[in-house]
Amino acid sequence: MEIALISDLHANIEALDATLKDIEAQGVKKIFCLGDIIDYGPNPCEVLDIAIARFELNILGNHEEALMMVAEDFNERAMRSVDWTRDTINDPDVPRDKRHAYWNFLDGLAKSRYAKQGENLFLHGSPRQPTRDYVFPKDVKNTEKMQQIFAGFKGGVRYCFCGHSHIPGIYTAKGQYAHPGKIKGGEVDLSKFDKLLINIGSVGQPRDNDTRASYVILYDQRVVFRRVEYDFHATANKLRDIKRLPSFLAERLLVGK
Ligand SMILES: [Fe+2]
Repeated sequence: MEIALISDLHANIEALDATLKDIEAQGVKKIFCLGDIIDYGPNPCEVLDIAIARFELNILGNHEEALMMVAEDFNERAMRSVDWTRDTINDPDVPRDKRHAYWNFLDGLAKSRYAKQGENLFLHGSPRQPTRDYVFPKDVKNTEKMQQIFAGFKGGVRYCFCGHSHIPGIYTAKGQYAHPGKIKGGEVDLSKFDKLLINIGSVGQPRDNDTRASYVILYDQRVVFRRVEYDFHATANKLRDIKRLPSFLAERLLVGK
């Protein structure tokens, strides 16, 4: 059974719609989301509607955590976005039953910090800390960090799928990183690796100098990285009209950074 894995949608409905179309075109029905459904983007309610109706598994991201609990590691600009998102979900113009559905959903998410299915582990950050720990390509030089991350592959886990850094790629236990652009056909044969950390990239705010939405399809023993074009100008224009949000949130979509 194949599964589409998506993450870091960040309230970007244009990117999510385009990604859902691509998933459908690939004939994939099942969708797992690895967190950060909301925040940064202009359409939190619309993206939450889809997450509630359509995704089979949802994992807690640090932005949902920040919205519901404390945002200790968020700077002032990031807090402005969290506050705007909270106010938008709570807006009295949003029907009452919808507002309840959003908070019920978010409340349920708080308990879903990771999910394990056979050899696969799904989470937002890393096995060291499931919601907030970042893994970046430069970390392969940090042997201690990488060892700690792979030490978290417990109970028969061989493949850990994550998001959070918004930079797709694979990390081996031997301390190597490869961007999907450097992997032939963007396709990884999992059986060739004893253990692997797979970052699936971001749908709604890619940061690897590529503006296209990033996601992966997991087949039994194979992972395929995919990129999807979407109208990022439309999203950026909406963001520019929201004066409470910092303008760099619009500008970064135009460069994928
Ligand atoms: Fe994120």
